[in-house]
Amino acid sequence: MRNLVLSLMVLLFSCSACAANAKSLVIIFSRADENYTVGYIEKGNTMILAEMIAEKTNSELFEVKPAKKYPADYDTCIDVAKREQNQNARPAILEDKDISEYDTIFFGYPVWWGDIPMCMYTFVEGHDWNGKKVIPFCTHEGSGSGRTDGTLKKLMAGANIERTFAMAGHTAQNNRTSAEKEIDTWLKKLGY
Ligand SMILES: Cc1cc2nc3c(=O)[nH]c(=O)nc-3n(C[C@H](O)[C@H](O)[C@H](O)COP(=O)(O)O)c2cc1C
Repeated sequence: MRNLVLSLMVLLFSCSACAANAKSLVIIFSRADENYTVGYIEKGNTMILAEMIAEKTNSELFEVKPAKKYPADYDTCIDVAKREQNQNARPAILEDKDISEYDTIFFGYPVWWGDIPMCMYTFVEGHDWNGKKVIPFCTHEGSGSGRTDGTLKKLMAGANIERTFAMAGHTAQNNRTSAEKEIDTWLKKLGY
């Protein structure tokens, strides 16, 4: 009996030590300005979710910013994004982030033409994902996560990647109570 209590104490201690040492990071690209169904917005739809996730999971937040800002006007932006995708471009980003010290990475993006935005290819390809736990989330306006799960699997060799959590962008933007409930349910399923 004494041994059992002792083992349980050791187990409890090591679990809490583990949780305290585990570091998590939210990496996010999100665009404000004019967007589909929501009009001109001050904060991007995915950014709203990213901030909730960072707060609820005690994670640091890093925003990927393209060196050349995407056009504020929606129609021009979709043309630019389509061209980048057709050209398989790797748009330069303003700043990089060392991800080596993080065990878990929440990876957030808007779905652009069925895929992750090309500036996220730039970020992802600059890093070693081996051994990371990656938890992707996205916003969209109808296509769900599109083909992004396949893209992430291809780009993040050696990572343990969850299935992407997808939410409509206008829900994140205009119905934050309901968005937060969905986020809470999802995080709970993930063990947070
Ligand atoms: C360039 C561009 C391409 C888009 N392509 C898609 C798409 O393929 N499927 C979809 O459902 N929504 C698409 N959308 C809508 C966005 O995914 C949606 O508005 C998202 O919530 C935007 O998130 P953000 O505000 O964080 O950038 C696109 C929007 C833009 C600007």
